[in-house]
Amino acid sequence: GGETHIENVAFSFEGPFGTYDQHQLQRGFQVFNEVCAACHGLKYVAFRDLTSATGPAFPEEQAKAFAANYEVFDPELDDTRPARLSDKFPPNTAAGAPDLSLMAKARAGFHGPFGLGLNQLFNGTGGPEYIYSLLTGYTGEEVEQAGTVLYENTAFPGGLISMVPPLSEGLIEYEAHSMGEGDGHGGGGHYSSPEATVEQMSKDVSAFLMWAAEPKMVERKEAGLRNVLMLIVLAVLLYYTNRKLWAPVK
Ligand code: HEM
Repeated sequence: GGETHIENVAFSFEGPFGTYDQHQLQRGFQVFNEVCAACHGLKYVAFRDLTSATGPAFPEEQAKAFAANYEVFDPELDDTRPARLSDKFPPNTAAGAPDLSLMAKARAGFHGPFGLGLNQLFNGTGGPEYIYSLLTGYTGEEVEQAGTVLYENTAFPGGLISMVPPLSEGLIEYEAHSMGEGDGHGGGGHYSSPEATVEQMSKDVSAFLMWAAEPKMVERKEAGLRNVLMLIVLAVLLYYTNRKLWAPVK
């Protein structure tokens, strides 16, 4: 039991102007696809979402190829078939692992102080930080309780988690993915993949899961900014209208 430790990661999508880093989302998807998907579902995310221009922006052909590696249940066939772009990731309950679609918003990394919530107001709820800290928080100690092996983890409440440490140094090899339409980064070319350290993979998959939980974040921020600007213009116009209207009375 006792205190848990949450690392504050500087993600590109923080703050009022923050956006998702498409290379990072593509790497994060690769981690999810090659590691986490063995046990975890992502049942609210559709394969087509992977082509989103404000998300990972995978080219459609690539998203199709990813989809085809997943089996989904088709009620019309009464059987499973390879997934298409219009399908969602299948649920995965085999290992008793929770679905990760909304995990970045379901867990809070930051709390307090004194129950005031100020930390969350300034730093965000810390969902992706919690996932990052969980993945990097294994101490290497394990204990057996009632026939189950539990792993000591400095981020998990209670300190003992049943998830086997999923990441290890160099577990995957990052691909240099090509970018889809409207990525705003000028396409492939000079993008070189980073080393797949545990920290790097943890950061990338946490960013990917934040996008999965809030795929319209960039659009929401843009709409908010537009609305605030419009309200400022409106306030100025109202100020002068008001002065003009009341001028004869003064
Ligand atoms: C729980 C993430 C890989 C099995 C969790 C939780 C997260 C997570 C965020 C929830 C912790 C909580 O309740 O606060 C990930 C990520 C993975 C990954 C990002 C890939 C990098 C795996 C793999 C397995 C697995 C490969 C199976 C071998 C589990 C299980 C739990 C769990 C059984 C429930 C743990 C418990 O409540 O004690 N995972 N996971 N995970 N995961 Fe994973």
